[in-house]
Amino acid sequence: MIVRPGVSKIGAVHFERRLFDSLIPLPKGTSYNAYLIEGSSKTALLDTVDPIKADVLMEQLKDVKKIDYIIAHHAEQDHSGAIPMVLEKYPDAKVLCSQKAKEFLIDLLSIEENKINIVEDGETLDLGGKTLTFIYAPWVHWPETMFTYLKEDKILFTCDFLGSHLATSDLYGTDRCQVYDAAKRYYAEIMMPFRSFIEKNIDKIKNLEIQIIAPSHGPLYDDPKFIIDAYKDWVFSKPKNTVVIPYVSMHGSVKKMEEYLETSLAAKGIKVEPFDLTVTDTGEFAMSLVDAATIVIATPTVLSGAHPLAVYASYLANALRPKTEFVSIIGSYSWGSRADKQLAEMVTNLKAELISPVFVKGYPKDEDFKALEKLSETIFQKHKELGII
Ligand code: FEO
Repeated sequence: MIVRPGVSKIGAVHFERRLFDSLIPLPKGTSYNAYLIEGSSKTALLDTVDPIKADVLMEQLKDVKKIDYIIAHHAEQDHSGAIPMVLEKYPDAKVLCSQKAKEFLIDLLSIEENKINIVEDGETLDLGGKTLTFIYAPWVHWPETMFTYLKEDKILFTCDFLGSHLATSDLYGTDRCQVYDAAKRYYAEIMMPFRSFIEKNIDKIKNLEIQIIAPSHGPLYDDPKFIIDAYKDWVFSKPKNTVVIPYVSMHGSVKKMEEYLETSLAAKGIKVEPFDLTVTDTGEFAMSLVDAATIVIATPTVLSGAHPLAVYASYLANALRPKTEFVSIIGSYSWGSRADKQLAEMVTNLKAELISPVFVKGYPKDEDFKALEKLSETIFQKHKELGII
């Protein structure tokens, strides 16, 4: 697909893929975007594709006589995995990447060292009327990541950053709601743990004149402000007046507690997003964490600790490091439990204030509902103090 004269989007759309990294659900599939930039003297290929779709890329390159440079923004295999095949077809091509990426490409793909040239942050490369500037952008989401800016066409190639797992035949994201949701899901699952680096990287590109953002997953953006503003909101804005309740219930006690708390919070004007962890899509849960001011984890007691699904949800929330301000834990037990302490110790990355857990013996009774009401009131007051109510 032609993006601008001399600039084509190639690569593969993987409509049927449903899981990434054996971890991330892909309800809308994904794509591995590569870009071919043909200057008057040199040709560059920006990124490749996941090896599973290498045949698609090689078919697209069948009439391309010469590739001088393969620019590897990121060493993860969904973008770098077909580099060895491209090098086999174009043995004189040089891989251009950051110092760190060079190490990773050798480690992960056994690419010969003499095939790789390191480019420095800010270095430019003239392809003949197409000038590329390499911009180091570490930790979105590996330490070696970088962007490329194409000056003449004002295109910023960002690889994973600002992308979305969205398989579509559209070059640009014409369905704004769909693109927003897919990009938010992608941010939540992949970029959110790196918020401080995102801030630095957004700052680094703020003075570039950008007409098109071309990521390596999902559609391109011909209105860069749309995705930059969305990221600014997700990264910088105050959390919203929302409580996320990941819960699991074995015999109904925890479910009753969750329902009570949900109703009580909603009555105070707080948005509640409950997730039954037995049927939860990990991506939906991650998305809810982007904005929520409070997380309340709800678990029964299993073998004196938390239910494994509650452990998983806590581990995930802790790893994703959302901007959550408050955490609490509720649950039930029959003869003893250390689930509240166990889960509290699992979410320390959040740096959130722990609001006293509510654990009840057996099925919740009047005094237990009073304790939940108190928890609800405390959350309401905390949100008020934060200025989000
Ligand atoms: Fe799309 Fe981090 O690879």
